[in-house]
Amino acid sequence: MVATGAVAAVGGAFVVWPLISQMNPDASVLAMASIEVDLAPIAEGQAIILKWRGNPLIVRHRSKADIDTAKAVKPTDLLDGVARNANVKEGEAATDDNRIVDGKSQYLVMLGVCTHLGCVPEGNKGDFGVVTPNGTTGGWLCPCHGSQYDTAGRVRKGPAPENLPVPPYKYVSDTKILVG
Ligand code: FES
Repeated sequence: MVATGAVAAVGGAFVVWPLISQMNPDASVLAMASIEVDLAPIAEGQAIILKWRGNPLIVRHRSKADIDTAKAVKPTDLLDGVARNANVKEGEAATDDNRIVDGKSQYLVMLGVCTHLGCVPEGNKGDFGVVTPNGTTGGWLCPCHGSQYDTAGRVRKGPAPENLPVPPYKYVSDTKILVG
């Protein structure tokens, strides 16, 4: 019985190797895991939606009013007090500063995946943007069940339980970021 067990273990090891090598992504897949985004063409007040790792990635060039509105929010008004930003320490508070990169507060980068059931929130909608004579700008409304997000992508009305997640990214030049 002991010998049989040993043989089985060795055989198992031989089977595992090819599986692992098949699971290793090749260079092309790894390249797609990161995308470079040129922010320069995004006008103030505009948002673009790209695809990153199968998910919609929102990049919005915020106006000063967007930023001021986000900064003015009291922590007690937030439904989710956690930043949900892969670039800051886990559990950091959901201040506007913790949702963006220091010195680049005009650019909001986040996944367009509602934290309720995964629908794509629609921009410039809802009650938590900036009210202008032409309508509300800068906030997001999820069409599925009515969740709303503010100008920093923080959930302000449920049923969504969490802020829209900020993916890992860094600036590779003054106007370019590498996401992933
Ligand atoms: S999926 Fe967004 S509110 Fe339900």
